[in-house]
Amino acid sequence: MNLVISPPKKCYSVSGTVSLPGDKSIAHRAAIVAALTEGESSIQNFPDSNTCQATLKCLKQLGVPITAGRAKGEIRITGVGLKGLKEPAGILEAGGSGTTARLLCGLLAGQPFFSVITGHPVLRRRPMGRVVEPLRRMGAVVLGRNGGDLLPLAISGGMLKGIEYQLPVASAQVKSAILLAGLFAEGPTILTEPIPTRDHLERLLKTAGVTIEFSNQLVRLTPPQTGINPLELSLPGDISSAAYFIAAALLLPNSKVIIKQVGLNPRRLGFIRILQRMGGKIEITDQYQASGEPVGTIIAETSELTATEITGNTIPYLVDEIPILAVIATQAKGKTVISGAEELKVKESDRISSMAGELKRMGADITERKDGLIIKGPSRLKGATVDAQGDHRVAMSLGIAGLLAKDKTVIKGADCISESFPQFEKILKQLIK
Ligand code: S3P
Repeated sequence: MNLVISPPKKCYSVSGTVSLPGDKSIAHRAAIVAALTEGESSIQNFPDSNTCQATLKCLKQLGVPITAGRAKGEIRITGVGLKGLKEPAGILEAGGSGTTARLLCGLLAGQPFFSVITGHPVLRRRPMGRVVEPLRRMGAVVLGRNGGDLLPLAISGGMLKGIEYQLPVASAQVKSAILLAGLFAEGPTILTEPIPTRDHLERLLKTAGVTIEFSNQLVRLTPPQTGINPLELSLPGDISSAAYFIAAALLLPNSKVIIKQVGLNPRRLGFIRILQRMGGKIEITDQYQASGEPVGTIIAETSELTATEITGNTIPYLVDEIPILAVIATQAKGKTVISGAEELKVKESDRISSMAGELKRMGADITERKDGLIIKGPSRLKGATVDAQGDHRVAMSLGIAGLLAKDKTVIKGADCISESFPQFEKILKQLIK
């Protein structure tokens, strides 16, 4: 499927108020935690992205009853307890979802049965050694291609020991996988992160009654001796999805977008903070706490932006927003330098080279570096035929770039958008005036 953006006679502008499907990072984790509780959990605003649906499907294969709730977007999960997961009869399929694959590796490492997990061809090329290595140290037997670095992985778990471990990469997926395994281990699990990453699992476990302490770069989990409590959650809108509409509002003339009930976890706010530093008119209002996460309204409007420098120690706070930030930087005055972003090379595509290559086709002044990008702006983008590179975030970022271009933009392979955000095009059309 191609996404075609044709320029109107005058420029586009965007305005309106929206609320968005639930945060995917929280959704995967909430479903897994709910599956382990004693009782029935309700999760509202659960996203219908392929990635989150892959996690639900795997949990069902592990014997967890999951049904649609009465409210739109609600799912109900009947927890099977910490000892109730069943050996799956078939192979678990993570699809294109790295979060599903890595989190489930941790969960499966704690189970006294055999399981095999795989994924789509692109996911089968992404590194898994970063989770396999600590899980082996805890006592799990994990076999896979390339010494266990690549899916499919065969896992024989149970009888784990808690570990004290320093994560070599700043990755919330790796941290969460180890913590999930730690729930089933003997003795505490203590983790140190090189840079703090999103702490959604830590917050959910605390809500479910697990003894877990976390601050800055340190997490300490005590495996529960009794059952854990079911969850009653309404997921906040996904700030990583909000990023595209915030970008459109800042870059297009006469624009103002209001996004309600968005997740405002401080470890996900790098994008907002950087844009404010660049001169972006972004306001956060109506803040409240829901189910252990900060939530609020984001208001973004047309702004004059200046270039900035983004270094490695802020990357985890905006790791998924770098592609759209690259688009924004093409419109900011001066030289934007993004460095220390090597992790982008092992996402759904090599996002450094995808964004450099495709934005160049649209006339951007962008240079690929081994750990980031240099973008000089402002430049007038021109319409072109570009390629999503099989990467939903590249596709959506190019969609926003297309709104700025002076002729028609065709994004080839844009169907990958439904991996994470099937409503993207519909909401964008609703906001375009
Ligand atoms: C995620 C963590 C990040 C992010 C991904 C979602 C998560 O990956 O890029 O989209 O939910 O934990 P890494 O853990 O590889 O940094």
